[in-house]
This record gives sequence, structure tokens and C-alpha cells, in this order.
Amino acid sequence: MTDDFFPEPFKIKMVERIKLKPKKERERLIKEAGYNVFMLKIEDIFIDLLTDSGTSAMSDNQWSGMFKTKQAYAGSDSYYSLEAAMKDVFGFKHFVPVHQGRAAENILFSTIITKGDYVPNNMHFDTTEANITRNGGIPVNLIIEDAYDTAKILLFKGNMDIQKLEKFIEEKTPDKIPLIMVTITNNGGGGQPVSMENIRQISNIAKKHNIPFFIDACRFAENCYFIQQREEGYKNKTIKQIAKELFSYADGCTFSGKKEALVNIGGMLCTNDEKLHTKLKNLLIIIEGFPTYGGMACRDLEAMARGIYEAIDDDYQKYRHAQMKFLADLLRKGGVPIVEPTGGHAVYVDARKFLPHIPIENFAAQALLAQLFIESGVRGAELGCSCFGKTDPKTGKFIPPRLDLLRLTIPRRVYTNNHMKHVANGLIELYKKRKEIKGLKRTYAPKLLGHFTAKFEPIK
Ligand code: F0G
Repeated sequence: MTDDFFPEPFKIKMVERIKLKPKKERERLIKEAGYNVFMLKIEDIFIDLLTDSGTSAMSDNQWSGMFKTKQAYAGSDSYYSLEAAMKDVFGFKHFVPVHQGRAAENILFSTIITKGDYVPNNMHFDTTEANITRNGGIPVNLIIEDAYDTAKILLFKGNMDIQKLEKFIEEKTPDKIPLIMVTITNNGGGGQPVSMENIRQISNIAKKHNIPFFIDACRFAENCYFIQQREEGYKNKTIKQIAKELFSYADGCTFSGKKEALVNIGGMLCTNDEKLHTKLKNLLIIIEGFPTYGGMACRDLEAMARGIYEAIDDDYQKYRHAQMKFLADLLRKGGVPIVEPTGGHAVYVDARKFLPHIPIENFAAQALLAQLFIESGVRGAELGCSCFGKTDPKTGKFIPPRLDLLRLTIPRRVYTNNHMKHVANGLIELYKKRKEIKGLKRTYAPKLLGHFTAKFEPIK
């Protein structure tokens, strides 16, 4: 077996019927949805690559763990399973369970941010950015410049620019920075990994200035697999060993279990700081629930505890990355401009390169997303102008983000490579007739996280 081919290290025990509806109907459905794929119903979608979050297929091991869990308001056995898994794999001293990643973000930022504070990151994800902003903070992206060149091949294109970080701390002063974060892998920019060396450097800078360093660990195991494959000195280490080292450089992490704990709901907020933990716990009780369940049914904690171990399984990661490469290779062969190199949880299409004739303010990635649904019943996600675009508060003018990407996010253990072929065929067909694709005009969007409920109309 090579890296390009690693078969599913599992067999399929239960299936869900999916059906490709006629094209005419798909045209009607996307129009009724205001050209926003979040408004589509799952039964109208053939292959759903909207997200890898909460969409994993759980294992027999996870389901059986859920059945054996003792349901209790306080002291459930599943809390202790999760605590043991967190300590064994992540290695932090304390944690609180939360129902999903953004709840961890909300609890953390509302505890540590004072109005006007800055939170640097390699690249904030949309919910992270929104939770910082909502709590009066200013999110700042300090990723390496090369991350914005979608064709450039770099082993660790998710790295933070260390010089930018040092300059930023000097300029803003450490007391205005309650936290430095790094997101692994970088979801906002191609699912690209961060190297161990970069994590170590960030950690040293944070220590020097006495600033806590937190990792947004949603896709930590995929990132650790990239380190194993690409970074010197890690070839013979297991993903678990790499993860343990990686987390040892941080003071805490936010974690959405909906990704790499292979569950449909769940998350964690971890810290080594006992005083901070006490504050987080007290807020958790008010807004999520008692610390031994944190906004979930106790069975969800058990599924998460078991899923964490399944995600760090070396065979599972080999299969996962081989599937990602399978889709990326098909698209490359068809000429489709994708973000290079292949990401860890998704293949990203550079919509500005795919549709260079569409003006930036006419939402090329969003338009391509709608066309992909019409063409082949596939739902992708937009990580571009709709998701990350801003409005200038003074002039009211639209400020586009630097990248306009369509993300083909692969749910874990759900689709086969035949499904991937269908996805690639649809996109390649669209590439052949790309000149006919027109842009969109946005007719509605709320201020924060506007892309979820935005409405669009085609440009005539
Ligand atoms: N951080 C990152 C890097 C994420 O990708 C997400 C979610 C979150 C935080 C928030 O976690 O959804 O459990 O509240 N990303 C999903 C996605 C929604 O589709 O990329 P959550």
C-alpha cells in the first residue's frame, strides 16, 4: 500500500439512502433557497460536503459506549472516560466539556477579553472571529504571506508568521493581548497544517511575554499526521506521541469534538491554569450545564472519549488523507484550480481563478457553489466573500477577504471514492463551461456570521 492508496480500515454496517433529484428540480430548489446552500434540505442533496463537523459516521465502539453510559446530572462515568482520554491524548490538567467548539470559544473569550484587546491567530475561523468580536475583542490573522498564494506548494502553509507576531506584540503591548491562538489545521485557508517547529516558536514567544497560548485543536490529529509525514524527526512517532508533544507547548485548547472526536455533538475547553479553570467552570454552569456533562447527554461524552482514540489511529489517518488526495488528483487532472497542497479535511477550490470574469464583489465562490448543486446535487461550502467579507463601518463599502474559496469538505468515514468521483466529474463539467457562470448579488446578510442566513440573486 502506498500513501495514494489506503483502503478503508473499517467495513460498513449501516447505510442511508441518498437520491439524485432531477436537474430542473435542483434549479428550482437553489433559487428558493436564495442561492444559499445552508437553506437546502438534506433530502434534496445527493452528496453533502458542506462540512466535516458533526457529520462523521460513528463506530460500533462509540455506539456501544453510548448504550453503556450511566445518565446522571452529576458524576456520570462518561465524564471520567472523557477526562481520562483528554489527559492521555491532550495532556492538559483541567477541562470542561461543552456542547460544541463555539461554546468553548464563548466561555473562554467572555472570561478573558477586556474591550479593545487583541487576539492574534494564524487564521481565525468564522465562529472564533465572531466570538472574539462579540466579547469586545479584535481578532487578528498573522499567517505567513504564502498562505494567500493558492498555487504555492509548502509543507506547512498554515504556519503563523513569527516575525509578524513579535512585531505585533511589541506594537500592541502584551497587556492588550490576553491570548495567542493557533488553529490546527487552518480551516480558513485550505486546511493547511502548522509545523511542530512553528508551535514551539509561538509557545516560546508567548512564554517570554507571559501571554497564554491556546490551540484551536478541531483537527489536531490530521495536523499531527502531516507532521509525521512531513517534518523531520517525526517519521517514526505515532500520531498520539506527536499530539502529546504538540499540546505540551500550549497552555490550553478549544476543541470541537464534532470534527476529530468523530461525534455528532460535543466539545472541550482545556487549560493548565487552575484559577482560569475555576472561572470557566462557574460560567459553564450558568450557560452550558454542570461540569460533568457540559450541555450534552452523558452518552455523548462517552462517544467523544472513544472517538478521540479512533482519530489518532495511524491507519485511519492514512485512509483519510488518501481519500483527500484521490479527490484532489481528479480535480487537478481536470484542470480545476485548487488550493495546493491538498488539505487535511477538505479540498478547496480557488473560485477567483475558476471564475476570473466575475467581479470580486459578486461572490464567485458562492455562485460556483450554487452551480455545483445544480450540476450534480453536491453541496459544498463557501469560505470566502460571504463567510469572511466585512462591511466598512464608516463608508458601508464591502471589504472582501483575500481568498474566495469553495470547500469540498469530506465527512469522516461517510463517503466512498466513487462518491468523490461524482463530485469531481460535476466540478470538471462546470470548469469546461465556466465562462457561462454568472456572479451573485447579496440581498440580505446580518452583521455577524452573515453567511448562514444570507440571500442572493443572480446578476442578470
Ligand atoms: N474552530 C474551527 C477551526 C472550526 O472549523 C470550527 C467549526 C469551530 C472552531 C467551531 O466549532 O462548529 O463545534 O462550534 N467549523 C465547522 C466547519 C462548522 O464547517 O468548518 P463548532
